[in-house]
Amino acid sequence: MRNQFYIAFTVILIANVLFFFYWPMGLFNLFLTVPFFMLGFRDIRQRRHAIKANFPVFGHFRYLFESIRPEINQYFVESNTDGKPFSREQRSVVYQRAKKVLDTVAFGTQLNVYEKGYEFVNHSLYPTHVDSKTLRTTIGSDLCKQPYSISLLNISAMSFGSLSPNSILALNGGAKDGNFAHNTGEGGISPYHLEPGGDLIWQIGTGYFGCRDLDGNFDPELFKKNAQRPQVKMIELKLSQGAKPGHGGILSGKKVTEEISQIRNVPIGKDVISPPAHRAFSNAQGMLEFIHTLRTLSDGKPVGIKLCLGHREEFETLVNTMKETRIYPDYIVIDGAEGGTGAAPLEFANYLGTPGADALVIAVDCLKKAGLKNQIKVLATGKITTAFDMIKLLCLGADATYAARSMMLALGCIQALRCNNNKCPAGVATQNPQLYKGLHAPSKRKRVKNFHHETIEALAHVLGAMGVSDHTQLNRKHLFKRIDENRIQSYEEIYSSSL
Ligand SMILES: Cc1cc2nc3c(=O)[nH]c(=O)nc-3n(C[C@H](O)[C@H](O)[C@H](O)COP(=O)(O)O)c2cc1C
Ligand code: SF4
Repeated sequence: MRNQFYIAFTVILIANVLFFFYWPMGLFNLFLTVPFFMLGFRDIRQRRHAIKANFPVFGHFRYLFESIRPEINQYFVESNTDGKPFSREQRSVVYQRAKKVLDTVAFGTQLNVYEKGYEFVNHSLYPTHVDSKTLRTTIGSDLCKQPYSISLLNISAMSFGSLSPNSILALNGGAKDGNFAHNTGEGGISPYHLEPGGDLIWQIGTGYFGCRDLDGNFDPELFKKNAQRPQVKMIELKLSQGAKPGHGGILSGKKVTEEISQIRNVPIGKDVISPPAHRAFSNAQGMLEFIHTLRTLSDGKPVGIKLCLGHREEFETLVNTMKETRIYPDYIVIDGAEGGTGAAPLEFANYLGTPGADALVIAVDCLKKAGLKNQIKVLATGKITTAFDMIKLLCLGADATYAARSMMLALGCIQALRCNNNKCPAGVATQNPQLYKGLHAPSKRKRVKNFHHETIEALAHVLGAMGVSDHTQLNRKHLFKRIDENRIQSYEEIYSSSL
């Protein structure tokens, strides 16, 4: 290809020179072709990309197409049900509900209801009416002084840093308008979390952002100051996250602006890697004592832990220690291995941690066995885009749910999958002002509120169709799964709840 390039160069150069003498437009022609030749010579001389060196100029198309692959897939290749991680159908329902436009489907389901793994719930001959306003639950064990009434659907942890300032403003504004909770993520509380006035769940990860001293250790005084803010309704100690369990947080240096460096107390422009483990404790007893400290310093606010289930026996030991010491969190969040992230190593995203549904069942059974389920509420995540996704988690034992990526979709995320390189085209997951200024926080705030509202309304309708009086009646018997072509089982049959 290089030789062809030199031949083409020589031929066109001669043609241009001849044109120049016989036809004045030849000069214009020269202007058009010279940049391409310069590019070609640069390609041949560079050493980094073999494709460009071997196929001067044309090699650039490979990189161009590679960079817009997600968009090509979305616009020209994928069907309604096969986009990943969220199908077009899932994305569309979020967009439609966020915009409050038509969200019904025509002509019947596009799912194959005879396919192995298909899940569904059954309706009743005697439907009920469920008031969507009752779809809340109260979090606060007998150790807590300030219980919090939480919506069944809330915004899961996503930090300022990972998300843009305008995204945080819109999420918190939506939470305020729709009366649900917004988790700060492990990056600390920013002015954008506080300005709209929505309820906050302050998450504390291993980096202790917002409550760390200069050496990165937990600082009780700083914690107390932030935890006692009236807007902070609950505290969440993050142990692990489904997308990268055992890894710790990663914030690309490209996203560490001056503002973020101040909020997190870290250097500008350098990758922020939170350690995998907490410094404040190293075993179950220590963790529970730390939880007790957090609850005391926050003046009795509910304190929860978030984890992706790893070694089962470690979780069992933790719950048994809760039983022995009578110190326990007010809630536990179960995040599945299928969870989302701003950035994670592939091995961690693909192969570490227990998938959410299985983990939820194990955790709930473990708490029930220890006699602690009545004290500790369980929240779950799980790619929620519809009320059915919520119902599945509620049937498996969750008391309430969190959604992260569908909230991003409500903000206008187009699933371009560039959250980790600061080039989010929708302005959702970037710190580049040129990109996030296009995300208009006041109108996106409405979308977040609408998505929540419409999903909760849909939940009330489906619960009514199932004939239950409220969400607390849901159990594993309500949820079915096709095991093979001729067999369907309820989740009660798959995971017996008799202890
Ligand atoms: C951009 C992004 C940032 C996230 N940041 C955090 C975080 O700071 N702390 C955390 O515990 N989880 C974090 N998560 C995980 C989510 O809170 C959630 O647990 C996970 O995505 C599963 O929910 P989903 O299926 O609704 O997305 C993040 C997820 C995304 C997509
Ligand atoms: S549109 Fe932005 S937030 Fe959504 S997946 Fe792409 S980069 Fe991430």
